[in-house]
Amino acid sequence: MASVSLVSAAARRLEGKVTLITGGASGIGEATARLFSKHGAEVVIADVQDDLGYSVCKDLESSSSACYVHCDVTKENEVENAVNTAVSKYGKLDIMFNNAGITGVNKTNIVETKKSEFEEVISVNLVGVFLGTKHAARVMIPARRGSIITTASICGSIGGVASHGYTSSKHAVVGLMRNTAVELGAFGIRVNCVSPYVVATPLAKNVLKLDDEGLRGIYSNLKGTDLVPKDVAEAALYLGSDESKYVSGHNLVIDGGFTVVNPGLCVFGQSV
Ligand SMILES: NC(=O)c1ccc[n+]([C@@H]2O[C@H](COP(=O)([O-])OP(=O)(O)OC[C@H]3O[C@@H](n4cnc5c(N)ncnc54)[C@H](O)[C@@H]3O)[C@@H](O)[C@H]2O)c1
Repeated sequence: MASVSLVSAAARRLEGKVTLITGGASGIGEATARLFSKHGAEVVIADVQDDLGYSVCKDLESSSSACYVHCDVTKENEVENAVNTAVSKYGKLDIMFNNAGITGVNKTNIVETKKSEFEEVISVNLVGVFLGTKHAARVMIPARRGSIITTASICGSIGGVASHGYTSSKHAVVGLMRNTAVELGAFGIRVNCVSPYVVATPLAKNVLKLDDEGLRGIYSNLKGTDLVPKDVAEAALYLGSDESKYVSGHNLVIDGGFTVVNPGLCVFGQSV
């Protein structure tokens, strides 16, 4: 019996780590909140979907070590408050997961894209990540440790997959991650991105106008398996845990090889 509990304690890779997850009420953020909680983390979910956020919180493996805070990532005082809530409730902030994001209006024609539509996506996906990184750094610098993770996307590496605003925002957060990884390395703080391919979440279903079945039919370089929110959560778990203690400035792409091939010139058959 003693050996069983030892094993399960050893398997908890985030024991005692305090985590703030923006966009934690749904999709990738929700899956990450569940996985982090299973691994012993104290989880603060920050989102604008309050009912959903509270109910995910209550349903976490260790719901007594979790709380929800309303936070629109475009508002500095709300991001500041979310970070302060994590610190005042649990004493510190070990992992900041800047994950909240939107696709915005799905237009692919730049001439028809309004400035306000472009700015809306930039505001959540880039300014929100800037604010999350800034306020996490504010409390992590004195502690001389921390892991900041941002959800970028394959749209942060290549063009032609989403709107101009979304693609710009995801390229930009990869740049912000690299710049802050350089600055914050001096304080022992690691900064990285996770960059998924299409994952079946409300965001993807809404923008692609597909249900779960339709999303499973979407092109994948890697056959025989589907990308699900928990796969992205597992990548965030690695970047948040001590197993990645020397990994910083890294964009961890989770795309089954999608972004390394140009299918138009591929010499390998697709029928295998
Ligand atoms: N689903 C995909 O195919 C995919 C692929 C690559 C990257 N991403 C990125 O993953 C992240 C999570 O998206 P998801 O697919 O889980 O979508 P989702 O819609 O399921 O979750 C996004 C969450 O962010 C929250 N949110 C939106 N605007 C917010 C704001 N201003 N302040 C606080 N919270 C806000 C939403 O309420 C929601 O709970 C996003 O950054 C998205 O761009 C998604």
